[in-house]
Amino acid sequence: MAEKIDGRSIAAQLDEKTKAQVDEMVAAGMHRPGLTVILVGDDGASQVYVRRKIKACEKVGITSTEHRLPADTSQEDLLTLIDQLNNDPQVHGILCQVPLPEHIDTRLVLRSIAPEKDVDGFHPVNVGRLSTGTGGIVPCTPLGVMILLQSVVDDFVGKDAVVIGKSNIVGKPVANLLLDAECTVSVTHIYTKNLPEIARKADIIVAAAGAPELVKGDWVKPGAVIIDVGITRIMGEDGKEKLVGDVAFDECQHAKAITPVPGGVGPMTIACLLANTVQAAKALQSEASKADHYADAPSRSMFTEAAPGN
Ligand code: GUN
Repeated sequence: MAEKIDGRSIAAQLDEKTKAQVDEMVAAGMHRPGLTVILVGDDGASQVYVRRKIKACEKVGITSTEHRLPADTSQEDLLTLIDQLNNDPQVHGILCQVPLPEHIDTRLVLRSIAPEKDVDGFHPVNVGRLSTGTGGIVPCTPLGVMILLQSVVDDFVGKDAVVIGKSNIVGKPVANLLLDAECTVSVTHIYTKNLPEIARKADIIVAAAGAPELVKGDWVKPGAVIIDVGITRIMGEDGKEKLVGDVAFDECQHAKAITPVPGGVGPMTIACLLANTVQAAKALQSEASKADHYADAPSRSMFTEAAPGN
């Protein structure tokens, strides 16, 4: 049987570390870390996600503020709000929930968030920092993937890793992080030829294609480590809805370790958002990083520090 990588428990351990860091900052007379979440419109799923993020802040002692704006908010008003938040010293993290209404240019909005407060790691400056290995804020889900891998992989150097999916928010950043960890990385996608064959060579598989149970048992080498980022709601044979990942979990028990869905990557994303907020708050308040907010590469060092056992 493959070891089940327990994302809930690893996320809870990370939250404990985050809470301890918040307490230390406050005890040292620093501002309590503050996260502001902006939600435009009334998309049901977005409301649920935002509620979870706000609640998670409470748990670790991060101050949270929510701006709920109507769906017909103008782009200009949204940019004005972001500008105010960029200049507010009590705000260390800004997250604008996407999708945004169609009349708003999402890329422009995400670019308008100050890179040092961009706790999603979506700003082109942070994307560039990540791809050049020069620090910056690492996007939450890729950071969570690396922390999960760290819990079961002793040595990344020279490992063959396959990333399935090339999205800007998961596939590409995960590939960069694996490269930085000295893996040999193949990034694959819907047009990749011989995907099962490529996957079969991998020591590490990160599945982030959004295709339910795409990765079959015979795609997986015995002893490989599998991180399943996919999560899709499907109708089960019993007529009940269920959540499935991109990996046929039951067929992959010859792997060394595998994340379940749910309970694998999912819980890590919010835990990493909280950790990113604390790192941003520290960087914004530290003398050393006033000249260069990335001088100490806040999030980059995190997945080594945050891994259980470290
Ligand atoms: N919508 C769904 N997931 C996310 C996320 O991680 N960040 C933001 N800003 N919006 C989202």
